[in-house]
Amino acid sequence: MNTDYSLVARQIEALTDGEFDAIAVLSNVSAILNQSLDNINWVGFYFLKDNQLVLGPFQGKVACYRIPLDKGVCGKAISTNIVQRIDDVHAFPGHIACDNASESEIVFPLIVNGKAIGVLDIDSPSLARFTEQDEAGLTLCVEALVAHLAQCDLEFIAK
Ligand code: SME
Repeated sequence: MNTDYSLVARQIEALTDGEFDAIAVLSNVSAILNQSLDNINWVGFYFLKDNQLVLGPFQGKVACYRIPLDKGVCGKAISTNIVQRIDDVHAFPGHIACDNASESEIVFPLIVNGKAIGVLDIDSPSLARFTEQDEAGLTLCVEALVAHLAQCDLEFIAK
């Protein structure tokens, strides 16, 4: 399946329109991403709290609650503010295996009003699942989400 990411980005805009409770919005965005992407086994959020990443809304198997900023693909994404697109997570030093089935991963930093507040993490059971096209398309989705989060109260989400 080739995901129509522009459509997903528009769906995120439509789905979040008028709702400003961040947990509610993030829960449905994790669901729409899960419904729209094939060949993934985890999609969800971690948010920066007290210098750690803490688990947020997600779809998939039980995941670790906290990730230190110097650990894992998620820690790398937030501490560098750079998207991490990892073809083989086993070759990534410090990768944290929440689900043993994960083989590749993409992590986007979420930057709201100039501040990195957390990450969107997507895992796949296939090697090299995420192409440059997926990264570009998912960037549209992240942009739609971040524009909406800028209007939400993030006090309980990140600090
Ligand atoms: N693999 C991530 C940890 C989070 S789980 O995949 C849900 C990492 O290395 O940061």
